Order: sequence, then structure tokens, then C-alpha cells
Amino acid sequence: PPTWRRARPALIADALKRASARPSGNWFVVGASRDVRAGGRPYGRTVGGVEVVLWRTDTGELRAGPGVCPHLGAPLRDSRVVCGTLVCHWHGLTLDGGPFAGWEPYPVHDDGVLVWVRLDAVGGEEPSERPAVPARPRPGAGVDAVFTAVGRCEPQDVVANRLDPWHGSWFHPYSFVDLSVVREPDGDDGDAFVVDVSFRVAGRLVVPVRAEFTAPDPRTVVMRITEGEGVTSVVETHATPLTAEGDPAPRTAVVEAVVATSGRRGFRLARAAA
Ligand code: FES
Repeated sequence: PPTWRRARPALIADALKRASARPSGNWFVVGASRDVRAGGRPYGRTVGGVEVVLWRTDTGELRAGPGVCPHLGAPLRDSRVVCGTLVCHWHGLTLDGGPFAGWEPYPVHDDGVLVWVRLDAVGGEEPSERPAVPARPRPGAGVDAVFTAVGRCEPQDVVANRLDPWHGSWFHPYSFVDLSVVREPDGDDGDAFVVDVSFRVAGRLVVPVRAEFTAPDPRTVVMRITEGEGVTSVVETHATPLTAEGDPAPRTAVVEAVVATSGRRGFRLARAAA
């Protein structure tokens, strides 16, 4: 049988354990940078059971905080942004992004592709100044696309699934015709799965690449192409919990960011064909 069908639960469990032990600094990916637009509507998300609202000032700076109005609880995602200020649609309370009437902003970070929010009460770890953004092709050299799906599972289920090279959905939704594991992770020294895989692009064209899979934090898996078509391209999978910890019906947003090097159409075509 093809090598990727070999079941290696212990290896995956070990890799997941090491990923879970890495710090996240309480940063959570909430969506694509381009989805929070200056002059646009506020952007609302639930993270770990907490309502979060984001918007931009007229100059494009990000603002984030609780998604519930401190006056009488209106959902701020349904409010308007006027000249960079959030105006509650119930009774007109205004928020410029600074603390006001018990509303305390959340630290927020725009890495150019994704927006991250730091939620210390949800993460429960030591906070860090900035999220650990994976290395990507340099700005302007790549084309990026961000997709979000919601799964009925915990973030660690998503990470375990993406970390399993013998599991076909690792490459979901890219269709591949062959996969062999070149190197398995061996503890903290060289902690990556290295695989040779051929993507089927646009039905017929087959593109062989070598790719490396790592889990830099408890909720992120990064696939980086290290040899072949689209070298240095990355596919990041960020698993952001929507429900609070311990919820009997957990849901997780799977935010997938593809940053492919310019002129390399494999990823985009594969995605379009999926
Ligand atoms: S609920 Fe927002 S101003 Fe009253």
C-alpha cells in the first residue's frame, strides 16, 4: 500500500504534544487583513466564546475590542464606523478604540495577510508582544488567498489532522497523486515532516514538490514548499476556537492562508479546481 496510508498514531500524538507545548502568547487569527477595510463595516468574530469587534481608522490602523456595547449590550458588529470611530447603532455611544466606560481594547496585529487578536482570558498563557507570524515569501513577491471553514471539533483536532502526512486531507483541497515521507520529526531538533508529493493541477498537469510541515504553535500548521514548483510558497492552517473551552459542542474556525510565489500558479489553480 502507498506509504501515506500507514497509520502512525504515536508519531502524530508526539508531534501534537510538542506543538501544544509551544507558546502562542494568547494570539488568535481572526481572518484576512483585507476583510477589515478602512471605511467599511466593522468585522465581528467569536473567539473562545468571546465576542470580538474589529475595525480600521481612516488611516487604516486596526482597532479591536469586546463586541458588546458597554452601554446596554448592543452587538457592535452591526454598528457603523464613522470617520474611524465605531458608533453604536442603538443609542449612539462612540468608541475610538481607546478604553471607554468599561470597554477595554484588545491588542491586535495585522501581518499583511492575516489579522490576529490577543485574548489573554481565552488563551491563559503568558502574553507576548506580537504573534509568531510564519516566514512567508517576501511582500509583493507572492499572491495570497485566505479561506475560512468551520469544523465541529477542537483546534487540536485540526492540528492533528493537518500534521498527519498519512492522512489525505493534509492536502485537502489540493488533489495529489503521490506522497512519500522523506523525513519524520525527531524531537525539537529538525521537528518537521518532510514529504515529496505531486499535486494534480487543473486536472492533468502534475507538479512534484518537496514540502515541509511544521507546527510552530498550538493552533498553527505550516506547509512550506522547499523544492520544486512554487518554492518558498506556504500554506498556513490556523485553528481558532469559536466556542469556549469545555463546550460540549465545540466549533473551530479553520483559517487557511496560501501565500504562493508569483508566477507559480499551482496553488491557485488547484484551489480553483477543488
Ligand atoms: S447599547 Fe450601545 S449605545 Fe446603548
